[in-house]
Amino acid sequence: MSERTRQPKWLDNAVFYEIYPQSFQDTNADGIGDLEGIIRHLDDIQELGCTAIWLNPCFQSPFGDAGYDVEDYCRVAPRYGTNEDMARLFEESHRRNMHVILDLVPGHTAVTHRWFRESMKAEKNEYTDRYVWTDCVWESPDGMGCIRGISDRDGSCAVNFFSHQPALNYGFYKPDKPWQQSFDDPGPQATLEAMKDVMRFWLKMGCDGFRVDMAGSLVKNDEEGKGTIRLWQNVRAFLDEEFPDAAMVSEWGEPDKSLQGGFHMDFLLQFGPSHYMDLFRCEEPFFSSRGKGNIAEFVHTYQKNYEKSERKGLICIPSGNHDMARLARKLQGDELKIAFAFLLSMPGAPFIYYGDEIGMRYVEGLTSVEGGYERTGSRSPMQWDDSVNAGFSHAPKECLYIQQDAAADRPTLKAQKQDPDSLYHEIQKLIQIRMAHPALQSKGDIAYVYAEENAYPLAYVRSSEEEKILVVINPAARTVEFPYDGQIGEVLYQFGRGLSSDGKKIIIQGQSAVFVKIS
Ligand code: GLC
Ligand code: CA
Repeated sequence: MSERTRQPKWLDNAVFYEIYPQSFQDTNADGIGDLEGIIRHLDDIQELGCTAIWLNPCFQSPFGDAGYDVEDYCRVAPRYGTNEDMARLFEESHRRNMHVILDLVPGHTAVTHRWFRESMKAEKNEYTDRYVWTDCVWESPDGMGCIRGISDRDGSCAVNFFSHQPALNYGFYKPDKPWQQSFDDPGPQATLEAMKDVMRFWLKMGCDGFRVDMAGSLVKNDEEGKGTIRLWQNVRAFLDEEFPDAAMVSEWGEPDKSLQGGFHMDFLLQFGPSHYMDLFRCEEPFFSSRGKGNIAEFVHTYQKNYEKSERKGLICIPSGNHDMARLARKLQGDELKIAFAFLLSMPGAPFIYYGDEIGMRYVEGLTSVEGGYERTGSRSPMQWDDSVNAGFSHAPKECLYIQQDAAADRPTLKAQKQDPDSLYHEIQKLIQIRMAHPALQSKGDIAYVYAEENAYPLAYVRSSEEEKILVVINPAARTVEFPYDGQIGEVLYQFGRGLSSDGKKIIIQGQSAVFVKIS
């Protein structure tokens, strides 16, 4: 297999902040967040301690899937601003030593994309093979949804996600129908070249890389991912040649595959085999103070992936994202602080979803906005302060992109900045400690010390050449213990009442998290 992918240096200690542009800060009172709003808050993001931003799609779109249905890959949607605003966002970020990655959606476009309109035509043209079409309207592609009956072209077009997101053609792993092409055929190759042009366009403007949407499902009928891995290796060669500093993170959820494809980072996600949901979002999450969770399968899968990926890249554990329920839906109060003690002491680059740093709630009972459905409750506008619309927008309340948490005690950044015991300050402190200790950063090693079936706490050792740090996390309300006969040294971080050791075991109090030096 390929050489180890070279990592951009800045990923070593990067802490990402995910921004959903429409919900962050509205500066022209149309009820929708914009790029200018993000620029105005760069200092806030930096003050929290984040060093990089992942921006969800902000390109021209009919917004049937909140922008994941792209109509023009190279044009900022007017509701967010202009391409010049984007260039300014890159510049202003770089001036603060921060990096910005954009969202690349290579799998599908909107039906309104020019490519698709051309592809629907009966006459053969440059875009005929840009999407996955069958050769007869009555034949649908196996195992995939499709669009049919809206084109003069005789065929059905495969879709990826919603039925208005036609699948771009990267070929089939093993084509076995006349209309199926292989990755090496001219159509799929042209699609990939077009996507490289999109990447070039933004990277030349100053973008620092991409989060890649549905990265693992581009080549079809590719159960083991071999075809898609090969596709990304091709992209890796292009980036190595032209943009070696561009950072790439995949929405794939199987690091053993994505890192082979040359991605620097992969996410553990709400889908896929990672057991990520066991942490914060299942019936009995491990991080609930009820203490009925089970971390063992998560750790087991993590270790397997960590070994299989041979440290080729980073496994990233997000606090949440725009597709899953807010962290604060199942966890509250100190539980959130302890969850962040874990998130910010694990290897890989941490990703904090906007608003999670103040414990923003999942807004229950909302009507779907732009294809959000149950995801809409996690996408409500940022709560900055106690002014109108929590400082998000001067538009009338009914005109906001999504209705905000109506509770009188909804968390705001302003209130949390004023309260020394807030979640915000705990996260700020945790990031500072991470920044001061390479062992805790992206590439530091991890060895699990205690992670048993249905048991607490969770304990692991993070290490670099300079030092070893034992991390002990007990989200449960009860005092627990585990066998440990090593020496413990200076305490670098403590939340809760902490731990003690008698040389044979460590006893940790309820709802505590401790980082302690062991050499
Ligand atoms: C990804 C995105 C999600 C989107 C889907 C289709 O999962 O995160 O928001 O709806 O892909 O593009
Ligand atoms: Ca606006």
